[in-house]
Amino acid sequence: MKAIVQLAQGSADGLRLQEVEKPTPKANEVLVQVHAATVTAGDVVMRKLPRLVYPVLALMGLKRKSIPGHEFAGVVEAVGDDVTRFRAGDHVFGTTTGLRVGANAEYVCVPETSKSGVIAEKPANISYEQAAALPVGGMTALQILRKANIQHGQRALIYGASGSVGSYAVQLAKYFGADVTGVCSAANFEMVQSLGADSVIDYASGDFTHNTQTYDVIFDAVGKTSQKKLKNVLAENGVYLSVKGSTSEKLEYLSFLGELAEKGQIKPYIDARYPLEQTPAAHRYVETGRKKGNVVITVVNS
Ligand SMILES: NC(=O)c1ccc[n+]([C@@H]2O[C@H](COP(=O)([O-])OP(=O)(O)OC[C@H]3O[C@@H](n4cnc5c(N)ncnc54)[C@H](OP(=O)(O)O)[C@@H]3O)[C@@H](O)[C@H]2O)c1
Repeated sequence: MKAIVQLAQGSADGLRLQEVEKPTPKANEVLVQVHAATVTAGDVVMRKLPRLVYPVLALMGLKRKSIPGHEFAGVVEAVGDDVTRFRAGDHVFGTTTGLRVGANAEYVCVPETSKSGVIAEKPANISYEQAAALPVGGMTALQILRKANIQHGQRALIYGASGSVGSYAVQLAKYFGADVTGVCSAANFEMVQSLGADSVIDYASGDFTHNTQTYDVIFDAVGKTSQKKLKNVLAENGVYLSVKGSTSEKLEYLSFLGELAEKGQIKPYIDARYPLEQTPAAHRYVETGRKKGNVVITVVNS
């Protein structure tokens, strides 16, 4: 099969399209024909980390991937003898977190259940590309926002609303009943409003922390600010959340997001699509830190 192989840590030049052996599922694994995958901000971080750091990351369940790509959507081609939830022909989506091989490839084998990654039935009425773009940003936003236990009518500020995590945070905060303000650049106002934000603030023009408006929930979804910087606009007893720090993946989160996507209550935002062989170009784009929502790798044109 064709796959993107990471030959060296460092620049995207170390990513090459190669012919590699198609994987065979073990007893607890599902073999998925990948229709779409993604390049996330995390993929770029993992590519650039020095090899020396990986033994430390292994303690957190993270492994260096010889084939990158944390998210996938596709069709089950075969299952191992012990697999009960899936069978050949099922449409699925999920993550390869904690595995040594990722989804920037024609096929990937993932365990039916694992400590770190998740796989679930794909929402029927969204595309493979949309489904591939949902797990990492969606589960991160959901897990962190739930900590605030948003009540109807509360005011939520999503800082970095145009990123992947931010784009899901805007939609989920709306779903939970908040009045949502998105902080992004003026160029991304339209995008963030299209996701449902009630108001938008340009982080580059003026200092909005001197405004009198305060927020019950503030979520730094891009990791570029701090509670100290935003303390003036955090309401008394308000909750401050940040994407900095570790999160985990759970089947319950992915299933919940899948249901919302199926009902049209959240929509994965796709900025750009690249064919598998152009994965290095996708990495270079994500590395700029300017992507909007998600960047997809289209493996099969559906
Ligand atoms: N904890 C976890 O489990 C977890 C999971 C996923 C991601 N992350 C981390 O979360 C961060 C966000 O990832 P992501 O994929 O959502 O987004 P991203 O690709 O890192 O961010 C891109 C977006 O951020 C906006 N942006 C850049 N600088 C900004 C600033 N100073 N203020 C406000 N917006 C700014 C950009 O818009 P402009 O070009 O208009 O500025 C762009 O739309 C990354 O550091 C990632 O590693 C953590």
